[in-house]
Amino acid sequence: MSIVFNEKNQTFHLFNSEISYIMAVLPNGNMGQYYFGKRIHEKDDYSCFLEMVPRSMGSYVFEGERTLSLEHVKQEYGVYGSSDYRFPAVEILQENGSRISDFCYKSHTVTAGKPKLKGLPATYTEKDEEAETLTLLLEDKVTGIELELLYTLFAEGGIIARSARFVNHGSRPVHLLKAMSLCLDLPDCEYDWIQFSGAWARERHVKTRRLEQGIQSVGSMRGHSSHEHNPFIILKRPTADEFQGEVIGFSLVYSGNFLAQAEVDTHDTTRVLMGIHPECFDWKLDPGEDFQTPEAVMVYTDRGMNDMSQTFHRLYQKRLARGYWRDRVRPILINNWEATYMDFNEEKLLRIAEKAKESGIELFVLDDGWFGARRNDTAGLGDWKANTDLLPGGITGLARKIEEMGMKFGLWFEPEMVNKNSDLYRAHPDWILAVPERHQSQGRYQHVLDFSRKEVVDYIYDSMAEILGNAEVSYVKWDMNRSITECWSAALPADRQGETFHRYILGVYDLYERLTSAFPKVLFESCASGGARFDPGLLYYAPQGWASDDSDAVERLKIQYGTSYCYPISSIGAHVSASPNHQVMRSTPLSTRANVACFGTFGYELDLNRLTPEEQEEVKHQIEFMKKYRGLLQFGTFYRLKSPFEGNITAWMVVSQDRSKAIVGWYRVLNGANMPYTRLKLHGLDPDRMYAVREEGEANGKICGSFYGDELMHAGLITTDTSAGDLLPGLNQGLHLGRDFDSRIFVLE
Ligand code: DGJ
Repeated sequence: MSIVFNEKNQTFHLFNSEISYIMAVLPNGNMGQYYFGKRIHEKDDYSCFLEMVPRSMGSYVFEGERTLSLEHVKQEYGVYGSSDYRFPAVEILQENGSRISDFCYKSHTVTAGKPKLKGLPATYTEKDEEAETLTLLLEDKVTGIELELLYTLFAEGGIIARSARFVNHGSRPVHLLKAMSLCLDLPDCEYDWIQFSGAWARERHVKTRRLEQGIQSVGSMRGHSSHEHNPFIILKRPTADEFQGEVIGFSLVYSGNFLAQAEVDTHDTTRVLMGIHPECFDWKLDPGEDFQTPEAVMVYTDRGMNDMSQTFHRLYQKRLARGYWRDRVRPILINNWEATYMDFNEEKLLRIAEKAKESGIELFVLDDGWFGARRNDTAGLGDWKANTDLLPGGITGLARKIEEMGMKFGLWFEPEMVNKNSDLYRAHPDWILAVPERHQSQGRYQHVLDFSRKEVVDYIYDSMAEILGNAEVSYVKWDMNRSITECWSAALPADRQGETFHRYILGVYDLYERLTSAFPKVLFESCASGGARFDPGLLYYAPQGWASDDSDAVERLKIQYGTSYCYPISSIGAHVSASPNHQVMRSTPLSTRANVACFGTFGYELDLNRLTPEEQEEVKHQIEFMKKYRGLLQFGTFYRLKSPFEGNITAWMVVSQDRSKAIVGWYRVLNGANMPYTRLKLHGLDPDRMYAVREEGEANGKICGSFYGDELMHAGLITTDTSAGDLLPGLNQGLHLGRDFDSRIFVLE
């Protein structure tokens, strides 16, 4: 890993064994982008990458010559309106009404490791040798604003983390109207754009299209990263696939409004922008003040999308997630939400917990409905005191009983919200985000607390810390069940209202930081009506997130498959729920529900007492299996093999670091008559090693045989179910019983 500055040619070359990132000071002092991709040789002069052809109708920087047009050169942090007409990385409104700026190179520093970003989640290093950071200092002379562009090059993997910081050294205030975390100009547009989109209960579906001239973008203006789009996109060469070819992933470490955009101009170059959504963003920067953007992470590989995902997984698992739980296997939990919804009392909960304990479950989680006047959606949010009619000993008493059973206890909160029917709202009606004299929209009968205000965050911290400090709570599920409307803060002046969305998220991060510091052994799971805030920002505080409110195994194939493009398996909250499923009313085999959930943090969300004795036995086996293999499942190297978006069969696998073990998950949505034979080509194995293959789950450890790694990778694993018992008795016409929603788990050792 090295960051080389060539003084004569004013060129920077950041490289490790995987990638090169080259930029240079342009003739007008702005920073130009020369190259980002596979590692190339270090040399003195890369000026050939500065292509400048005079074009009719061009606007040019220098009087009397037609060379430098900012529209036609690739830049590091483009501005609009001074010969570049593309969407810019930055827009600064000045007192005279102008939005033009001109950031020129002033100096730079290279430091070992990676600095923290004030108040924001970000990737980090534990040792200085893990990364180097280049800080480019640019200056806009007219306003006196300095811009620091940060580039952290990690020693391992094709990773560059970027962010920007603005400092107003001028004498007048300005308004930052746009401040992206990343701007990357690529020399061509031969890419597929992949986004991860959906809605409540069908989050992060893979959507692919060819990049085309014009703008393609995804984003959120809901105050959270959203069910609708994820702050993660991929550009891949059209010929690239999961196993080969050039891919660049772009991920924003942020949980609020975001924009990810690619603009292809009519000369077929591509500008990627990623950062806080500029809509509704207006940050006033008084003299002496600074503004730090969130971090954006880029991963380049020429070995396909699995390799890109594996790089993100390693980085986010080891150098974004933090704390006690980062490297630990996750407890197998039972959550009462789909078992009882809000219709429970202590006795009912204890019955569920007892059966869970008997089955081997380690953590009992009490979901929504335990506090204040909350007996349905319309009341109680904000009053974080146990309802002692339901729980006579309060949370302390219930947690003790659960601990005495030999299980850990976990608790649900929705810290950012309030119902109007609550003591908190009655005491502080001005604590919600709302515009004076205007109608207040609600979502799920609730309103959003103004987390841009410190006193509000302090109050919620105190109420949560009171509970967590007085009861044995080992896990917190932090929910967030509505989008923000009428985003206006009673604590901010008119010319700072455009800061409210971002200040809100800073308040969320502040509360997370305080709680995780005060209760370092508590496992936090983030949640927002399922997967509306499944983003890297929250992974910094909560190493796992509830991926979706849709717990149906078939739906989950798509959700978990899409999620895996950026996020590690150890972060994906996945549970076995009742059949028929509560979201789609589909009946699926219990084994398939577990075979999908085990590629996640794994837990149950049903009342095990309602299962048949045979099913209860099956659950015990599932839990034994998970306990034995969760280290591998959650922390192994994950490969997507067959996509649920492309056919009836989905498959994925994990391989241990030393390649001595692997687990394969195979899923067939619909059965068919007289089906073809199926083989599955595996990946990541040691070609020369012999693997004993067993089928687990319903097959109960059936021996499939021993095979060399190369056989399994090139000839494939036979997945056709050939068991004679599957033929209908008395019929010999090749009819195969099978079933819909079938699945198989293979263990290779
Ligand atoms: C939405 C979550 O995603 C669910 O799991 C559950 O916690 C409910 N909220 C409770 O209101």
